[in-house]
Amino acid sequence: RRAGNAGPAAAPTPEGYVSPHGEEVAAAERKRGEGPVREFRLTATATSFDLGGRTVKTWAYGDELPGRPIRVTAGDTLAVRLANHLPHSTTMHWHGIALRNDMDGVPGVTQPPIKAGASFDYRFTVPDPGTYWFHPHSGVQLDRGLYAPLIVDDPREPLEYDLEWLVVLDDWVDGVDGSTPDAVLAELGGGMAGHGDDPEEHHEPDRSGPSRRLVGARSRLLEGDPGDVDYPYYLVNGRTPEDPRTFRAKPGDRIRIRIINAGGDTAFRVALGGHTMTVTHTDGFPVEHTDTDTLLLGMAERYDVLVTAEDGVFPLTALAEGKGHTAQALLRTSDSATAPRPTVRPKELDGRLITADRLKAAEDVRLRPRDPDRTIRLRITGSMKRYDWAINGKPYDPAQRYPVRQGERVRLSFINGTDMWHPMHLHGHTFQLPDGGPRKDTTILLPHHKVNVDFDAENPGLWMIHCHNVYHSESGLMTILGYR
Ligand code: C2O
Ligand code: CU
Repeated sequence: RRAGNAGPAAAPTPEGYVSPHGEEVAAAERKRGEGPVREFRLTATATSFDLGGRTVKTWAYGDELPGRPIRVTAGDTLAVRLANHLPHSTTMHWHGIALRNDMDGVPGVTQPPIKAGASFDYRFTVPDPGTYWFHPHSGVQLDRGLYAPLIVDDPREPLEYDLEWLVVLDDWVDGVDGSTPDAVLAELGGGMAGHGDDPEEHHEPDRSGPSRRLVGARSRLLEGDPGDVDYPYYLVNGRTPEDPRTFRAKPGDRIRIRIINAGGDTAFRVALGGHTMTVTHTDGFPVEHTDTDTLLLGMAERYDVLVTAEDGVFPLTALAEGKGHTAQALLRTSDSATAPRPTVRPKELDGRLITADRLKAAEDVRLRPRDPDRTIRLRITGSMKRYDWAINGKPYDPAQRYPVRQGERVRLSFINGTDMWHPMHLHGHTFQLPDGGPRKDTTILLPHHKVNVDFDAENPGLWMIHCHNVYHSESGLMTILGYR
């Protein structure tokens, strides 16, 4: 079966979803054009992985963790058949892509859930180059093994480098002594009973598992807490530090590292021991090149950096911010050098730290200065104790819309009235941080801070705005922007 194409407006999919903006969505897609069609097949399936000394049962896209990357070129038309072999409905969200709205993968909002045993054909033109990723938008499924990079090459790539690595960070609980993300959610006291679920397949999670010990294991309500859950494992590319992935290079090689935080509830601070990193992109979009020792990535953020390899063996370390644990991979340019210990903390972790607000957008992606036509104030409230996350006093209501009009410059004013970090994400657009800051789709909102981000409303449809802490969003920290 074929989901709606860029053809005549408002073609209902075989599953019966009719986009409320069908005509505009189809017209916007025609403007993007149809490029060479790149076909992929993905199967969401129950499987198991060796994380490096520990085997866990989980759900994933095929037999790799992270899932095998999808790689296309900007302007291509991506056609993915997702077969759902899970015992539960699912969907696929293409995080960060300014795609046609009816392919955005939000169950109950842009498409019906893909039931167990069914499949769905995603098909859309990919407009912008960059580092993206994909994951389900159903419940807390992304905190299992259901995630993979989506790399969009630039046909006019301006950077020169010898090697490229994909580095995907994750926090891991699924399948550890019987725990699941659903059990963690229940333990936190969250859950909306049904974002993306078929009501008839609602499961009561098992509350007896070790998730009970993980939640609030650190002091709750710690000032400026970036996450709630003390995970048993932290991973780089699916591996624990005891058995890390090793990247090989020659001394002097220039390496582009694309870093993705796929964690459900963990911000990571990343450094490559013995090296300075030059930040070139965040969330797929170029920035003015900036040197740094370490970087901070909230959930779902991406950074691209360039490094020049030194001679030896070096830890690429991701520190789970506020939780103290580290994940690790290795850069090896010498066969004889001795690998660092799994627990080593490169001094760069305490060096110069780049956060997004210190970066500037590269000139060709900077928004033309203009006063906003509309400001949408989004005040976030809630606490760890009550797990009552809300926006402007309301938990997620699928019927509510924050309206915008095509062509407007829109300002989202995020106000954090809570003691926790919230990585705030907007679907289908890339906003800009203040004062010529970087173009991003996800921005860390620190406790009791405010951030204004601007974007041009030029992608019609219904678009989620939510916290990318998957337990927060699933407990209500989510709302919908709706084109009129
Ligand atoms: Cu990765 Cu709704 O997001
Ligand atoms: Cu949050």
